[in-house]
Amino acid sequence: MTTPAKLRLIIVRISERPLNSSLKCEGLMPKYLVVSTSGNPESNSRSMGRAAFAHLEKAKVDCAWLDLRDLNLPICDADTCYAQPVTQKLNAAIESADAILIATPVYNYDVSAAAKNMVELTGSSWEDKIVGFLCAAGGMNSYMSVMAFANSLMLDFRSVIIPRFVYATGDAFDGEKLKDEKVAKRIQEVAGELIRFAQALRG
Ligand SMILES: Cc1cc2nc3c(=O)[nH]c(=O)nc-3n(C[C@H](O)[C@H](O)[C@H](O)COP(=O)(O)O)c2cc1C
Repeated sequence: MTTPAKLRLIIVRISERPLNSSLKCEGLMPKYLVVSTSGNPESNSRSMGRAAFAHLEKAKVDCAWLDLRDLNLPICDADTCYAQPVTQKLNAAIESADAILIATPVYNYDVSAAAKNMVELTGSSWEDKIVGFLCAAGGMNSYMSVMAFANSLMLDFRSVIIPRFVYATGDAFDGEKLKDEKVAKRIQEVAGELIRFAQALRG
């Protein structure tokens, strides 16, 4: 019979297991995080992130929403920024997730500076995470803009990048409402892929 002391030991052992372990975590449900990285109050990528988050909620998985606009993060200075409580809060959110969807604007053929700053602030917390992208852009020509950022996550932190991402331009939206059904379907597919990858690698 499992005594309370033994039970306590088992609980401690499970909670000590790093969530970013590449080993499967039998018996533990993967955790999902959607991060919005646009500062624009009427952001299209935030609408895409919201739609993906709704799919995760509908799938009844353990998911959380994080909007960098609410956090007032410091710019990474490779020094005092790491000790700031808000940076630690961000770090905890990244660390505790197994799979992360990043909703980002395309700025100057790249992800937003806020998205890049997030990774600079949290570094190795991204190790072995499963990561997907939802991108809002002004035109179709910036289609591959997330690749430098994705490469850095793969090469620096061995993040697993979902090889399907959503890219939408302004005409997919009517105000804050996503009107393009193809984009809506792709968001649903990416949310589904995030769950499939997380369950396969961590479930
Ligand atoms: C500073 C800045 C740079 C931009 N650079 C690009 C770009 O390189 N390629 C592009 O397709 N759109 C570019 N855009 C357009 C944005 O990607 C577009 O407005 C998008 O909707 C922004 O995402 P958001 O609505 O989630 O904030 C840029 C916009 C701004 C403000």
